[in-house]
Amino acid sequence: MGIEELEEKLVAIEKKALEAIEATDSSEALESVRQQFQGKKSVLDEVMRRLKELSQDERPRLGQKANVVKCAIESSLKERKNFLYRQELNTRLSSETIDVTLPGLGRKLGHTHPLTQITSEIITIFYGMGFSVVEGPEIETDYYNFDALNTPLDHPARDSQDTFYTDTSDQVLLRSQTSTVQIRIMERQKPPLRVLSPGRVYRNEEINARKYPLFHQVEGLLVDRDVTFGQLKGTLNEFIRLVFGKPLKTRFRPDFFPFTEPSAELDCQCPFCMGEGCRTCGQRGWLELLGCGMVDPNVLSGVGIDPEQWSGFAFGMGVERLAMLKYGINDIRHLFTSDLRFLEQF
Ligand code: DAH
Repeated sequence: MGIEELEEKLVAIEKKALEAIEATDSSEALESVRQQFQGKKSVLDEVMRRLKELSQDERPRLGQKANVVKCAIESSLKERKNFLYRQELNTRLSSETIDVTLPGLGRKLGHTHPLTQITSEIITIFYGMGFSVVEGPEIETDYYNFDALNTPLDHPARDSQDTFYTDTSDQVLLRSQTSTVQIRIMERQKPPLRVLSPGRVYRNEEINARKYPLFHQVEGLLVDRDVTFGQLKGTLNEFIRLVFGKPLKTRFRPDFFPFTEPSAELDCQCPFCMGEGCRTCGQRGWLELLGCGMVDPNVLSGVGIDPEQWSGFAFGMGVERLAMLKYGINDIRHLFTSDLRFLEQF
């Protein structure tokens, strides 16, 4: 092929390329046009490879010409590329616009169960008085649930009517009180000690508005030198004030628990009627809140603590009961049915 023919070919290529580039309507189309006219195996490349067929002085002439065509194609490609990029970006921007004034999809946040809430409150209050939290097992032996707590063998609570025993052995049961942790902690730790133990307890009971076979207690135990009943009263009075958020009258009624001597039941002024008498307190003006007392010397010596040197007080409260009184819940079953209409109120 002679130089003239090749030159014509170059002109034709340039024309064809520029037209093809101009006709593209997307980056993809432009890319396939580019592959035809640029790089190895392109039509331009074919012409360049023919250079060697020409004479020495013809070569630079065609080389120069080819370069001009190459540059023209290059700059046309570049220009088209920018044009298409901007065009495509604009289409995307207008089709993908977000209306920032639309309301969001807002994900609803959950919260802890009212029993968890009140348990944390109880813990926080006693934490402020120097108590730390310990936990004990829910599957217990009758030793920890009864014997070590000074409970006589014929005590009715031991009956399977009241306590769930396991198939494993008649000595293995589901604990019926968190008082078990008093023993477990005193076995491990020497006094002085101040501990609080929240957890689940189980009793073989018919379900009704006030009773459920599974419930929660928080146990408190303080052992130190010369502990007095006055300190127990002061501690619990302060607890009542903080948990109900107002000062309420309290009274300590004599009661009996095998592991405390003396024992008492703590009543507080009904926070709803302030003692006037209402439905919540059954017109009595008082609410029974928890059991407490001075740790029985038998319990201390049973775990190797000398009752001549150490004394202590203990208390145990039902968490459901406190939650029901504090939040005005009239049926314990609400706390166990996971009904969001109920739970969302807390
Ligand atoms: N464990 C008792 C119960 O479940 C409650 C109780 C009473 C706990 C007196 C105590 C206490 O620590 O001193 O009925």
